[in-house]
Amino acid sequence: MSDKIAKCTGCTQKDEKKYGEIADIIDLYKDKEGSLIQILHLAQEVYGYLPLDVQKFIASSLQIPLSEVSGVITFYSFFSTTPRGEHTIRVCLGTACYVRGGKKLVERLQDILGIQIGETTEDAKFTFEIARCIGACGLAPAMMIDKVVYKQVNVNKLESIISKYYES
Ligand code: FES
Repeated sequence: MSDKIAKCTGCTQKDEKKYGEIADIIDLYKDKEGSLIQILHLAQEVYGYLPLDVQKFIASSLQIPLSEVSGVITFYSFFSTTPRGEHTIRVCLGTACYVRGGKKLVERLQDILGIQIGETTEDAKFTFEIARCIGACGLAPAMMIDKVVYKQVNVNKLESIISKYYES
């Protein structure tokens, strides 16, 4: 780890390990052009999300303004500043899925999960998001849970799809 890397203040032991990993990532990428997005990506993989303290840590390690780091995070939807669930559900609301019942899937999932779009369930099992076309238009409506694509999803099957993720 480079001496130039900022230290994490007030960290728990678990956090310290994660900050150490993030510091190693920064060390590896800091001199490469356009590395901020890559660093943020990997830091999100390590930490799970990008809270303000992690953003500050990255900004001071790279010796750039915090506003530059937070600006990138705000611009790209794949960055999250709040904790994410173990699984991410993305219901497609692209045109084909929308006209074939995508909105109904969203409403039913909101009922089942008890959360709104962009939120994470209290048990931290699921984060619920919207996608714009996931390449399964011919078999709409479609949704994804992590990397698994569910095609021609029937509203009545949603409960059993979700329950599978509680069994594993
Ligand atoms: S519009 Fe939903 S998969 Fe293309």
